Amino acid sequence: MADFVWRINGESNMAGPKIDEIGPWSEVKLDILKRYAVEYSKILSSQKSPSFFHVYIDAFAGTGYHLSETTGEMVLGSPLNALLVRPPFREYHFVDLDGDKIDGLAKIIGNRPDVFLHKGDCNQVLLREVFPRVLREDFKRGLCLLDPYGLTLDWKTILKAGPWNRSTSLSTFRFMTSTSTSCIMILPQSCRCILNG
Ligand SMILES: C[S@@+](CC[C@H](N)C(=O)[O-])C[C@H]1O[C@@H](n2cnc3c(N)ncnc32)[C@H](O)[C@@H]1O
Repeated sequence: MADFVWRINGESNMAGPKIDEIGPWSEVKLDILKRYAVEYSKILSSQKSPSFFHVYIDAFAGTGYHLSETTGEMVLGSPLNALLVRPPFREYHFVDLDGDKIDGLAKIIGNRPDVFLHKGDCNQVLLREVFPRVLREDFKRGLCLLDPYGLTLDWKTILKAGPWNRSTSLSTFRFMTSTSTSCIMILPQSCRCILNG
């Protein structure tokens, strides 16, 4: 974490993407996701015969950090939290439509063979470049976070991930695919009641 903070401080002195201020709800969300990812990674890493290659996918990755509205302090975003999970994921894919955000993430993360940064619309990038790398028959499994600002997610992207069962929890929408990706979707406020209803 210290390395990230040091690089973020360097990064924030330069012109770069706008940093979001986040409210308490988003801080709780990030904390839940962090804990979920730790448990997921523990379980997948402990599997033997077969053992799995588990991948973290952040389809709406963002800048990697935010400012807390409550304290004014820096809060790590979902991609950097995922990189701090122990035991680690075997591979990471971070996608964002905003090229400046991906460039900023690249500077913070540095050069790592296990991290793949994708500039573009996740509705295309996931189907074209990411999901084909996480195939069930190759004993690969993925945790995919879908955290859009609004409804910028094409439902075809979800359907393509495979048949799924869904369950709601704490206003997030979690569904496990029967292929190889388990997705957590954070819904915008506007559609929470419709989908939970
Ligand atoms: C809510 S923020 C993500 C925050 C991040 N998950 C976190 O918690 O730190 C949503 C991000 O999605 C990006 N975005 C919007 N539409 C997109 C799309 N179609 N494909 C990929 N990224 C997109 C935005 O640029 C923004 O950075």
